[in-house]
Amino acid sequence: MPITSNRYSIQVSLHSLALLKHFVFRQSLVRKNMEPEVGGSGGRQLAVGADKCGYTDHDSRSNLFLNIKSNSPTLNPNSIDSSSDSVIQRDSVQATVTMVKAIRVYEFGGPEVMKWEDVELDEPKKGEIKVRNKAIGINYLEVYMRKGLVPRITPPSPFTPGMEAAGVVIAVGPEVTTCKVGDMVAYAGYPVGAYTEEQILPADRVVPVPPSLDPVIAASVLFKGLTALVLVRRCLQTGPEHTILVHAAAGGVGSLVCQWANALGATVIGTVSNKVKAVQAKEDGCHHVIIYKEEKFVDRVMEITSRKGVDVVYDSVGKDTFEGSVACLKAGGYLVLYGQASGSPEHVNLQMFFDKFLHLEFPSVMFYTQARKDLLEASEELFSNVAKGVLRVRANHKYPLSQVTQAHLDLEDRKTIGSIVLIPDNQHLPDA
Ligand SMILES: NC(=O)c1ccc[n+]([C@@H]2O[C@H](COP(=O)([O-])OP(=O)(O)OC[C@H]3O[C@@H](n4cnc5c(N)ncnc54)[C@H](OP(=O)(O)O)[C@@H]3O)[C@@H](O)[C@H]2O)c1
Repeated sequence: MPITSNRYSIQVSLHSLALLKHFVFRQSLVRKNMEPEVGGSGGRQLAVGADKCGYTDHDSRSNLFLNIKSNSPTLNPNSIDSSSDSVIQRDSVQATVTMVKAIRVYEFGGPEVMKWEDVELDEPKKGEIKVRNKAIGINYLEVYMRKGLVPRITPPSPFTPGMEAAGVVIAVGPEVTTCKVGDMVAYAGYPVGAYTEEQILPADRVVPVPPSLDPVIAASVLFKGLTALVLVRRCLQTGPEHTILVHAAAGGVGSLVCQWANALGATVIGTVSNKVKAVQAKEDGCHHVIIYKEEKFVDRVMEITSRKGVDVVYDSVGKDTFEGSVACLKAGGYLVLYGQASGSPEHVNLQMFFDKFLHLEFPSVMFYTQARKDLLEASEELFSNVAKGVLRVRANHKYPLSQVTQAHLDLEDRKTIGSIVLIPDNQHLPDA
C-alpha cells in the first residue's frame, strides 16, 4: 500500500462515538493508477482534520432541518379545503399552507413511535424549493436517530425523520437560480425530514437527477452511493494493491462499496449473516464471502490472505465486529468505522493500534459533501457510474410511506438486502 506521507497526527473530536474519546490516527494514503472510467476525476489525498471528520457540527443547524411545522399543532384536515394547496386563515394573517401526510416522532423508541399524520407545510422562502417526493430512501442512520442515539444531529421533537429523497420541484422561493418548477431533484443528508409527501429544501442541497435515472433508483442510491464514494474514493483511495474487508456486504451501503472497490481493482472480502445475502455479495463483486454468523471471520480472513491480513476494514457494524476487525488488519492498515449497527464498540484496547501501527478513520458523508461543488462532483460521479452499469442499484424493498414502521422493523431485524425505499401513498407504488 503506497503511503505518501509519514506525518502522523492525533486529532480531537469524533462525533457520537464516545468510545475512543477523541483519538484519530491519520496518514495519507494514495492509490496510483486510478481507473478513470470507474473513479472519474478528482481523487483526493487524505488530509483532513478530525474536527471535520464526524457529522458536521451545525451551530446553525436549525435551518437545516425540514421546515415542516413540526411544533405547530396538526391541523384537522376536515376543517379546511381538502385541495392540496389550501389557503387558510391563521391569527388574522393570510398564509398559504399545504397539508401533507408525513411521519412524525414525538418520543424516542422503537419503530412504533413513528406516527402517520397530517402536517402543514409553508411555501418556500428565499433560497428554498418545495419538492413533491416520488421516493424516499431509508438509511440506518434513521434508526439511530429514532432511538435517540445521535442527539447532536436529531431535530427537536416532534420531528420528521429521513435524510434522502427524490422528487419533482413544485415551487421555488425567491432568488433560486439552480432549479425550476418541474425539475427532478434528489438530496441526501441534511435537512432531516424526508419521510413526507412534500418538503421544503434549501435549493443548494439538491442535485439534478439525470432524465435516464428513475427517481426510485435515485432515492435508493444517493445517500448510500455517496457514502460508498467517500469510503473508497475520498477518505481512502482503494485500488488493485489493496485487499479490503467489508462488513454487512449485502447491505445498502455495503453492496455499493463492494461493487465500487471491485471495479477499482481491489480484492474484496465481504461478511454477511446468511446464505441469501452471501449470493448477493458474490454478485456484487466480493471475491470471498464469509458468513460471520457461521464462521469466525478473523480465522477465515487470515486463511484467505495467507495470514497477512487486509489493508482496510470497512466496518459499519461496530460493537460485534470491532475487535475482530482490528485483528484482521495488517501492520499499518486502516480501520474505517463508519457505522455501528450493533452498537458502539466497548472497552477498546488502544494498545492494539499502537502494536500494529494502525489507523482509525470515522468518515462522514456529510463532511465530504458539505460544499456544493463537492456535492455536485460526487453525485455526478455516482450517477455516471450507475448509468454505465459499474454500480447496480439493489432497490429491493419498497414500502408505502405510511408503512414505514414495517420497513424499520425489517431493517433492524436484518431482513433487508440492498436498499429500502418508501413511496408516498399519493404516488403509484412501482412493481417489485
Ligand atoms: N458515516 C457515514 O457518513 C454514513 C452514511 C450512511 C450510512 N452510514 C452507515 O452505514 C451503515 C449501513 O447503512 P445502510 O442504511 O446501508 O444499512 P444496511 O447495511 O442495509 O443495514 C444494516 C446491516 O448491518 C448488519 N448488521 C450487523 N449487526 C447488526 C445488528 N446487530 N443489527 C442490525 N443490523 C446489523 C446487517 O447485515 P448482515 O445481516 O449481513 O449482518 C444489516 O443488514 C450503517 O451503519 C450506517 O450508519 C454511515
